[in-house]
Amino acid sequence: MPDAARRPYVVGNWKLWGTRAAATGYCERLAELEPDGGWPVDTGLAVPFTALDAVVAGLHGRATAVLAQNMHQEQEGAFTGEISAPMLTELSVDGVVLGHSERRQLFGETDRALQEKVPAALAAGLQPILCVGETEEERERGETERKLRGQVQEGLDKVADERLADVVIAYEPIWAIGTGQVATPEQAQEAIAFVRALVADRSREAAELTRVLYGGSVKPGNAAEILAQEDVDGALVGGASLDPESFAQIVAAAAQ
Ligand code: PGA
Repeated sequence: MPDAARRPYVVGNWKLWGTRAAATGYCERLAELEPDGGWPVDTGLAVPFTALDAVVAGLHGRATAVLAQNMHQEQEGAFTGEISAPMLTELSVDGVVLGHSERRQLFGETDRALQEKVPAALAAGLQPILCVGETEEERERGETERKLRGQVQEGLDKVADERLADVVIAYEPIWAIGTGQVATPEQAQEAIAFVRALVADRSREAAELTRVLYGGSVKPGNAAEILAQEDVDGALVGGASLDPESFAQIVAAAAQ
């Protein structure tokens, strides 16, 4: 079980799903599923930009955080097609997923840009979820730790030690994302303990408080086993979060 200081956190990542109409219906169903007294762990939904305000409205008065799935590091400027932190906070968005592997692999996201994005999110009052993870080839070549070290060190490079614990990190092995091939609980624990040790290299105190999530093919049927691992503080859930029932089941598994 995670350290008591680290409240479990389950975040749904809708990716490119969710019109405003669908988002509103989702929030209504999720509200029906929410137990009296609220969810037993921290929860969040990372949704498309166009659905953010619909989800903020749909979850009004509830503890579930609303997150964007990307953000530009600058507040404004000649960056066609981008969205900035003040544009998100204006909508009462709580946080932002940064460096998701799909952004890195398909849209050219770089560690260099993330070095600016993570502190920019913090400065604006947004909770960053920094995603890291290795490809299948990197794991087979024994390069998982090297890859994670680079991504974590660069992503946190410009974050002051006192703010480190405000960054949530999601370990998402790329071979497990959307493939149904979930990491074993041991693989998840090992990699996440390594990520925590990397934070400890900066600040031992922060490492005790930093929440590190697992992501990659988390489903209601496999969540409990992974979330029971000592260093696994929650989950970033893609496909299974599109159905409010299965999202609620994963949240319940995180509370066990
Ligand atoms: P998945 O996606 O749960 O559909 O594998 C996880 C993610 O990309 O965050």
